[in-house]
Amino acid sequence: MDMAQPPPPLPPAQSVQELILDGGTVPERYAYKDDRSASFDESLPLMDVPVIDLGLLPPSSSSSAGEELIKLRSALACWGCFQATNHGISCSFLDQVHELTQQFFALPKEEKEKCARAPDGMEGYGNDMVLLEQQVIDWNDRLYIIISPEDQRKLEVWPEKPETFREVMHEYSVKLRPIINNVFKAMALSLNLEENCFLNQFGEQGVMFARFNYYPRCPRPDLVLGLKPHADGSTITLVLPDREVEGLQFLRDGQWFRVPTIPDALLINVGDQVEIISNGIFKSPMHRAVTNAESDRISLAVFCTPEEENEIGPADELIDEETPRLYKKIRNYTKTYFEYYQSGKRPIDAVKI
Ligand code: OGA
Ligand code: NI
Repeated sequence: MDMAQPPPPLPPAQSVQELILDGGTVPERYAYKDDRSASFDESLPLMDVPVIDLGLLPPSSSSSAGEELIKLRSALACWGCFQATNHGISCSFLDQVHELTQQFFALPKEEKEKCARAPDGMEGYGNDMVLLEQQVIDWNDRLYIIISPEDQRKLEVWPEKPETFREVMHEYSVKLRPIINNVFKAMALSLNLEENCFLNQFGEQGVMFARFNYYPRCPRPDLVLGLKPHADGSTITLVLPDREVEGLQFLRDGQWFRVPTIPDALLINVGDQVEIISNGIFKSPMHRAVTNAESDRISLAVFCTPEEENEIGPADELIDEETPRLYKKIRNYTKTYFEYYQSGKRPIDAVKI
């Protein structure tokens, strides 16, 4: 495939939610014929998710700040993710965000389709983008929208229902901004770099894409994947996982680990762009979502990506004779990412030196 000219997307598949209303079988386009699918499997080890208390990180002047930075560095180098506690967003507000997600997907089809993704668009309501004939489609419906900065929102694909949607998502984006900035600063400090070193590459106007994921229960979870294995194209991703239903898994050293449900925590993972900026010290982990036969599952992932014109690349301070530059400088990595994603190749390989 010519990577510079991605083919136009094929017609979208039916929403997975509609499919399950049709009956109890899994259509061929969703089913893996090899052993790549994975149902919820309790025999997989549970991940001991590193916990970082954001309240202890700078700008707080806590005496434990140094220790917390060491923990952060090790979590990001080892797993590429951590569970953020003490993040400053109240449980009752997170409840509202969860409810909103649930309420949106519970709306009648006609209502949701008012925000449908255009055939050549990225944003809006739809399911797995079908870019390849042979592609197995994820068992997932989603709403994908830019929530920040405000002037980049495409309100024509923002739901009008539930009525609180716009207000709550606006507020969520406002509450996330200082968390994101502090995490970027802490990442730099944990590597003994100047604190704005990561943040400057992200930019003051860094973009937040919100992806509301809905994974309907599946009659044959052993045949499908909610989300195929991938690493995120973001700098960092902040995930609000389902409160009760497990399904997210991370890969480490060839082994899949189940993420336990952790009410009220934000799960923060590194994306490819922070792996690039950190010259490979922080890992952009492979992860996937599996489904189960009993319960639907929801999640909300917020992907933070640099302003489009920003060039990103390994921080100069991390490069010397012993640790050579591992990645090229690149602008608009998100574009490269989507061109590679469905082909099954790791997009980050395109920028490796
Ligand atoms: C994603 C993602 C995890 C989840 O949307 O990229 O990894 O739990 N989501 O839904
Ligand atoms: Ni992801």
